[in-house]
Amino acid sequence: MVASMFPTVRPRRLRRTASIRSLVRETTLAPSDLILPLFFADFLTEAKPVASMPGVDQLPVSAAAEQARQAAKLGLGGVILFGLPKVKDARGEAACDPNGPVPRAVAAMKDAAPDLVVITDTCVDEYTDHGHCGILKKDARGEMVVDNDATLDVLARSAVAQAKAGADIVAPSDMMDGRVGAIRRALDDESMSDIAILSYSVKYASAFYGPFRDAADCAPQFGDRAGYQMDPGNGREALRELELDIAEGADMVMVKPALPYLDVLWRVRQATTLPVGAYNFSGEYAMIKAAAAAGMIDEKRATMEALTSIRRAGADFILTYHAPDVARWLGA
Ligand code: PBG
Repeated sequence: MVASMFPTVRPRRLRRTASIRSLVRETTLAPSDLILPLFFADFLTEAKPVASMPGVDQLPVSAAAEQARQAAKLGLGGVILFGLPKVKDARGEAACDPNGPVPRAVAAMKDAAPDLVVITDTCVDEYTDHGHCGILKKDARGEMVVDNDATLDVLARSAVAQAKAGADIVAPSDMMDGRVGAIRRALDDESMSDIAILSYSVKYASAFYGPFRDAADCAPQFGDRAGYQMDPGNGREALRELELDIAEGADMVMVKPALPYLDVLWRVRQATTLPVGAYNFSGEYAMIKAAAAAGMIDEKRATMEALTSIRRAGADFILTYHAPDVARWLGA
């Protein structure tokens, strides 16, 4: 059947020149599709490079205004902020401090670039001394586990502190059941019904988060996150998480990681009309940087191809540490 169409049909006709290829290209990348993650630390006075993520720094809060102006100038879709507090405790209370690094950085950024979309990551792992994404308790067998329901309160109070500082969107990344609803109710109770929730609806327990845990200083001090993040073998379960978050009031949803889970991203895209994001996370970034530094791949082409693939799989926007480089490559 297909064989008989040749020589009449020749797909190569549309690949002949760069301008024809550009005319028929299905997926494009623009700076406005990209969200840059930034790490603000309370205790720094100057930028401190993250060893495993070349080009990424932990930043002092005093750098926030300049970062906002740069992101706006590059035309980025937005930024997402993570915080490193001076003091950590078992419950992650520093995540709710209105004078913590994230609320202060948010306020400075909105002041410097009012139109820049500022998103805050809502989770306690950077704020707990044990590095888990919630408050701990002993289960019936005496094992330490994350107490889902007790964690909802600290998450909701953290989201409120972030929104009061001026965040446009809060993004819970903890994977506790019921957190989207708890955050929605807390924001509404504080008359912030116009603040949107971007849920990390589908977040896997990935081996590739290592570099982020250096950047955000949040490696779990014991065990792992498999008791709350998703099992890499599961695809249908992603649709169940999606359904629940939508029912609880999520305005936008996200899949994370991106590249090893493009099939999941595609399924989520088919299953919802909400905006869908993907997190091209630390391990994906570190691998491209390391391979490029070793002379194994062309950094620019590999990065553009990886991000285009994430868009093709269904992402409306991508959280990526490559955002400033890509914006410059695109001529911003
Ligand atoms: C949790 C959180 C993590 C990332 C985003 N939010 C870390 C984790 O789940 O261990 C990872 C981001 C990345 O790897 O780039 N606050």
